[in-house]
Amino acid sequence: MKPDISKVVEKVDKLPELNAVVLQVAKMLDKPDITVNELSKVISSDASLTSQLLKLCNSAHYGFSRKVTSINDAISKLGFKTLKNLIFVAISHGLLKTDLKGYDLEEGQLWHNAISCAVYCKYLAVTSHYQDPDLAFTAGLLRDIGKIIIHEYVKEGYDEIISLINTNNISFSNAECQILGFDHCQIGSKIATKWNFPEKLIESIEHHHSPDQALRVNCSSDVKLVSIVHICDSITMMLGTGIGSDGMMYHLELKSFEHLDIPQQSKSLECLISNMVELNSEIEALVGFINGNK
Ligand SMILES: [Fe+2]
Repeated sequence: MKPDISKVVEKVDKLPELNAVVLQVAKMLDKPDITVNELSKVISSDASLTSQLLKLCNSAHYGFSRKVTSINDAISKLGFKTLKNLIFVAISHGLLKTDLKGYDLEEGQLWHNAISCAVYCKYLAVTSHYQDPDLAFTAGLLRDIGKIIIHEYVKEGYDEIISLINTNNISFSNAECQILGFDHCQIGSKIATKWNFPEKLIESIEHHHSPDQALRVNCSSDVKLVSIVHICDSITMMLGTGIGSDGMMYHLELKSFEHLDIPQQSKSLECLISNMVELNSEIEALVGFINGNK
């Protein structure tokens, strides 16, 4: 029996509101005339956000030779756009670090997977000359956020989902839709909408397993961003970082590559994967720092 969609939406509605300081900072970062001091003052009013941001700035991912000791210092070294990225990392950590039984993910595995995909997305965005690599990072980070709500339904319907995949050779998200009436992408976009995330982020979450659909349903979609997240989602699965019971049960749409301006020498999937493996030490550093392990 399909779950009652209104109950699922209720669960989305019951998710905690985003921290007021985070919302204020995100809005400030969109203002062209914002100053370092104004921004620093607001961020510094939240001790937990400040400490997480400083930890992230000092991770090997950013490779600063001298320690970043204040928010002022962080802003001047990283710039507003990257700082916005880090704020998304800080706020999503609490949600994505959890274990998800329906997907057979232990505590920390979804978080590791999300950071990996985010780093790969930023790399592919830079390689393909996408105009906003920091947005690509955030889109990769948050693509699977819907899993935090629907994993318990996936657990109940798992045998049916697998049986449908084996019979019809469809993807895991397609089977989620047929058995549950919704998939983690749709629920993820509802969460992103609740939190007033930018439209491009909402679209990339909704279509990360079906980039062709993004083009069909909405001509204004940022097809490059959706393609980057789709390709990097597949690569994250192929590299096996924090994958769960749905790992390798999605279809990579190779047509997505056509939307990206990738130099000939890095165009093949094999080449991209071998370049992305090189990023693993950065990923480990980022994951380790925010977990407070290092
Ligand atoms: Fe996904």
